[in-house]
Amino acid sequence: MQLTYLGHAAVLAKGSVSVIIDPFLTGNPQATTKPSDIKVDYILLTHGHGDHIGDAIEIAKNNSATIVAPFELALYCQSKGAQVHPMHIGGAHRFSDTFWVKLTIAHHGSSVIEGDKIIYTGNPCGFVVELDGKKIYHSGDTGLFLDMQLIGELGLDLAILPIGDNFTMGISDAAKAVEFLKPKKVLPIHYNTWDIIKADPQEFKNAIKTPCEVVILKPNESLTL
Ligand code: NI
Ligand code: MN
Repeated sequence: MQLTYLGHAAVLAKGSVSVIIDPFLTGNPQATTKPSDIKVDYILLTHGHGDHIGDAIEIAKNNSATIVAPFELALYCQSKGAQVHPMHIGGAHRFSDTFWVKLTIAHHGSSVIEGDKIIYTGNPCGFVVELDGKKIYHSGDTGLFLDMQLIGELGLDLAILPIGDNFTMGISDAAKAVEFLKPKKVLPIHYNTWDIIKADPQEFKNAIKTPCEVVILKPNESLTL
């Protein structure tokens, strides 16, 4: 399976099916990919914030792809004309022999801003995805939580974690998360998109004291699992 970092919190996993998580491309200062370039079967959304829902509706319609999200957010996307598969925290679903998704907790908010209105879209989540026998954990936007130890017990090939601080874990908490999750590899995300979440991924690498390969990717770079 090939995993491409698209900038901010957006990643694209390509294997027997193609899955994009949090496809914020339009207006993302780090993204060089256009929504029309994205060919996927599934779109996973961790929460409703604009830097995560991004171009999800357009990509879903272009590809007849299914949006997988917490129930309230899924219904919001359905109201915009997208095909959806609602789930909720703790729930897992096998979409095919090779593709399985489980929703985890995330400590954050979830809302969509339309004009001067805030539409709350339920609880935010993280995802554990099994694709072609490899397990990936995308935490979504979250603070550190001890239950990451339970997520780690699933046996993670890759953890994708925010390090930008202010809205999410910063470097030291993300390093602690690696200790709890025990993934084989970790990819830092959600940093340097704007000044408010400025962080040095090398500093994150140096902060990790447990055996784990830190993979630092620029937007559009890939790793293979
Ligand atoms: Ni957020
Ligand atoms: Mn965010």
